[in-house]
Amino acid sequence: MRTQVVIIGAGPAGLMLARLLEVAGIDAIILERKSAEYVLGRIRAGVLEQGTIDLMDRAQTGPRMHAEGLIHHGIELAFDGDSHRIDFEALVGRHVMVYGQTEVTRDLMAVRRGTTIYEAEQVELHDFDGKPWVTYARHGVTHRIDCEFIAGCDGYHGVARQSVPATALTTFERVYPFGWLGVLVDQPPVAEELIYAHHQRGFALCSQRSPARSRYYVQVPADEQVGAWSDDRFWDELRARLDPATAETLQTGPSIEKSIAPLRSFVAEPLRFGRLFLAGDAAHIVPPTGAKGLNLAMSDVAVLADAFIEYLAEQSCAGIDAYSSAVLSKIWKAERFSWWMTSLLHTFPDAGAFGRRIQRAEFDYLTGSRFAQQSLAENYVGLS
Ligand code: FAD
Ligand code: DHB
Repeated sequence: MRTQVVIIGAGPAGLMLARLLEVAGIDAIILERKSAEYVLGRIRAGVLEQGTIDLMDRAQTGPRMHAEGLIHHGIELAFDGDSHRIDFEALVGRHVMVYGQTEVTRDLMAVRRGTTIYEAEQVELHDFDGKPWVTYARHGVTHRIDCEFIAGCDGYHGVARQSVPATALTTFERVYPFGWLGVLVDQPPVAEELIYAHHQRGFALCSQRSPARSRYYVQVPADEQVGAWSDDRFWDELRARLDPATAETLQTGPSIEKSIAPLRSFVAEPLRFGRLFLAGDAAHIVPPTGAKGLNLAMSDVAVLADAFIEYLAEQSCAGIDAYSSAVLSKIWKAERFSWWMTSLLHTFPDAGAFGRRIQRAEFDYLTGSRFAQQSLAENYVGLS
């Protein structure tokens, strides 16, 4: 088989890249290790920046998002019971949209015309310094695809980054001593806007997917087992971390999904190795505080799609040569913001009394300074 671009991974990054290329008349094949149902069953991010909304439109997959997505003009920050609204619209004249990653993925899958090979096993990358080709196995038979470029959109645990010789890659990492226990429930959200809450017992986030479906998270130790958390235990813990008036109005019910995500900051450099390019979680991880992971993956592939289009349609190397440094600059800014939001809002086992006072001072500075709020708002809605 032959195609112009082989994309490893059918998460949001891989699907969006494939779609942007398809719209530009460029042929791509996606190889995905899991089934389509499995990919759609993963509950992950929920907040889209304007750049991601614009990209969905460019991919001609925006109508359902515009019909069902919820525009949010601000968020609520709470610290030990004191709360403060960050008004994006007033501070920076912009907003975000609540529309789940599952829906983004579903829309991109629905619109795709090209080939996606699900349940592709043993994906291997070859000769990406010269004439690249990729092999994979399906039902015990090995197949080969020759291509011009390989895009590694296969997430943090994927094969693409691992195929690069260790000497060619520098990685930067911070692992946090906690994770997020998330619950999805078919009940109306506790508040109109998202609530990010710091509490002595740990961080809590009240999010949502629709007027009838809510997503809640609580910070748990890194080694926590999801089986140790009955629904009742989760609701009790969430209520304990919210201010009493909000906790009172929380509508609970049986969870329809419950999982723990570890928190990590990670960046690989560079992101181009000959004709192999890394994008999305394969290239970087942010802790979820600040909702940057999905948006950053989307902004990478927007740049990568343009670079491939420039090369394949216009024979220009400018885009592929600039890709790594262009996206890394934005990636590090998102890393900084996500690290900062994480540091402000979580409890750290080794913070001590000094660390806790500093967190409180940070919150007080933020709520007292329009400049500080503007900075938060500017980053949350997405830097251009
Ligand atoms: P992924 O979505 O990880 O997609 C990669 C794809 O590659 C997967 O479908 C995978 O099956 C496939 N793949 C992997 N290895 C191979 C292989 N060897 N061969 C073929 N295919 C392969 N962000 C937020 O902003 N908010 C959140 O609440 C949030 N929660 C998260 C919870 C979890 C458990 C995780 C892991 C991430 C979460 N994120 C969150 C981050 C966000 O979901 C990611 O940034 C986003 O999914 C990145 O998209 P991606 O396409 O780069 O990677
Ligand atoms: C969601 C996840 C986030 O990490 C975040 O900052 C906001 C919302 C969510 O899953 O809804």
